[in-house]
Amino acid sequence: MFDGKNKNLTAKSTVVTSAHNKQVRALCRLDEIPNGEARGFVVEVGASSQEIFIVRKDKIAFGYLNSCPHAHWPLEFIENQFMTLDKRHIQCVNHGARFEIETGRCLHGPCKGKSLNPFPIKLHKGWIMPAL
Ligand code: FES
Repeated sequence: MFDGKNKNLTAKSTVVTSAHNKQVRALCRLDEIPNGEARGFVVEVGASSQEIFIVRKDKIAFGYLNSCPHAHWPLEFIENQFMTLDKRHIQCVNHGARFEIETGRCLHGPCKGKSLNPFPIKLHKGWIMPAL
């Protein structure tokens, strides 16, 4: 698991995928994200790009589009700051919505009951890959 060696990740990485020729690049290794933290990425699919973030909880990672269901703004002001201080929830800094890590469902805030849109990922030999 996280060994503390890879703390200098680029905050936002561009990852190119292609729905047509199936070329997919790994986002990062699971152990590069400290447990209970998240990392933002820009993922290009064909000619379009999407901002996403990946949250790690123990040995599992969850991917979501970086768009709050309240006002559809990015969740963070500071790069990679997607989590509450206690690391138990995803938080939108705009108006304080809190989301469940595993489901993306809003538990508290102006969009309570709505959910973050998932971004499909898979783990392959410790690497987090887009599952497009
Ligand atoms: S934009 Fe996220 S809570 Fe308002």
